[in-house]
Amino acid sequence: MYVCVCNAIRECELRAAARRVPGNAEAVYAALGKKPDCCQCLDDAEYLLLEEREMALDNAALC
Ligand code: FES
Repeated sequence: MYVCVCNAIRECELRAAARRVPGNAEAVYAALGKKPDCCQCLDDAEYLLLEEREMALDNAALC
């Protein structure tokens, strides 16, 4: 599923980037070589970044 249609960024690509790139959605997009165009995806992208980073922290706490 695409999170960002303008840049063809898939959810799995954004989630993987969330674990290695700090910052907000625009920072993560930049690390992927993209930048927001219409910006309609940014709220959903921010939510996915938070969710993925929280899961990473939860997994680290289990170790
Ligand atoms: S859908 Fe992401 S910038 Fe337009």
